[in-house]
Amino acid sequence: MIRLEPLTGRHDRNGFDCGVEVLNLWLKQTALQHQGKGVSRTFVAVPADEAAVQSWAQSGYAVEANGILGFYALSSAFVLIDDLPPKQARHYPRQIPVTRLGRLAIQADMQGQRLGQLLLADAVNRARAAAQAVGSAGLFVDAKNETAARFYQRYGFTSSTDQPLKLFLSLW
Ligand SMILES: CC(C)(COP(=O)(O)OP(=O)(O)OC[C@H]1O[C@@H](n2cnc3c(N)ncnc32)[C@H](O)[C@@H]1OP(=O)(O)O)[C@@H](O)C(=O)NCCC(=O)NCCS
Repeated sequence: MIRLEPLTGRHDRNGFDCGVEVLNLWLKQTALQHQGKGVSRTFVAVPADEAAVQSWAQSGYAVEANGILGFYALSSAFVLIDDLPPKQARHYPRQIPVTRLGRLAIQADMQGQRLGQLLLADAVNRARAAAQAVGSAGLFVDAKNETAARFYQRYGFTSSTDQPLKLFLSLW
């Protein structure tokens, strides 16, 4: 029912609303620009085909064929080991390459249907594949708030007690 693919100009960025305006605006105004410059790569969840659009319509969801159900963005970054949980930090040199999961958001009326879980799994898989070619110790997230941090913790991300919004998941 859902396809995950790189963001392009054909996707309807203006119709996306996850309830967090800064994330909506980033998708509308910045994601494609950054992608064009290699700053980040954005991946979107869209209806797999017309049958999926019809099926959602029958369930009361107004989803367009080019509508964005959710998105996330990945980029390369360096972090200091001070930003990692102490247990993990002791395995690494002072500064390490990571894959930064910059943003993850789901259309507001589609939240709670495991789409976030699906996109996070896709992000981990893409980061792991990329790390076979370019060094990356793990996925790193700067969570927006404690609620978002709890979502990542469910999937094995950990943080240090003094920096609970900086979360890390080893890829190795
Ligand atoms: C956070 C967000 C991405 C989660 O996506 P979602 O599709 O609603 O979540 P899912 O349905 O995939 O949830 C999967 C599991 O995580 C749990 N979960 C969801 N959000 C959670 C949270 N904030 N804290 C703890 N658990 C959470 C769900 O209960 C579910 O658990 P279950 O498997 O036991 O049923 C989504 O709510 C969202 O886009 N929020 C607004 C934007 C945002 O804050 N993004 C984070 C930026 S750092």
